[in-house]
Amino acid sequence: MLDSLKSLLDEQIKDLYNAENQLLKALPKMAKKASNEKLRVAFEGHLEETREHVERLASVATMLESKPGGKVCKAMQGLIEEGKEVLEQDGEDAVVDAALIAAAQRVEHYEIAAYTSACSMAQQLGATKIVKVLLETLNEERAADEKLGDISSGEVLPATDFAADDGAEAPAKEQRTPRREAPAPKRRS
Ligand SMILES: [Fe+2]
Ligand SMILES: [Fe+2]
Repeated sequence: MLDSLKSLLDEQIKDLYNAENQLLKALPKMAKKASNEKLRVAFEGHLEETREHVERLASVATMLESKPGGKVCKAMQGLIEEGKEVLEQDGEDAVVDAALIAAAQRVEHYEIAAYTSACSMAQQLGATKIVKVLLETLNEERAADEKLGDISSGEVLPATDFAADDGAEAPAKEQRTPRREAPAPKRRS
């Protein structure tokens, strides 16, 4: 029952606990599917962090005199479902990697939103120890998101820039960059 901010925070923690546990199962599959070495290492590294996140949430639940579990995070189910679509597809390595990153960054942004809300609630409750624990995870989620973004723009997206050899030529580079509209021809008076 949502009769107090403490009970709301408890609900949020339960939701996150389930979300993180769902991720524990999904991340190894994403790592396996990744072709880019840095991406694979990033997924594996975040898997280790995610194990910590689960532990931290359990400790927060204890601090709230509660127990984690008993809730299903439907949003994470949906995000992972979308990620599965990528896992089942074949294609160019870099394009598949880009799709994996797009799915993973959606997950990270969801987590960042959820931990930010939970942090604010704990802050309002004056539960400084809980704030500290949640912030640790929040910072790791932000770092994970940033790392994925860096790998994407630094290596994966540039690697998708292969010339198509099936006759359907990729558009020339200058055509792909949105350009300012050409000025209208001057009228003669
Ligand atoms: Fe996490
Ligand atoms: Fe995460």
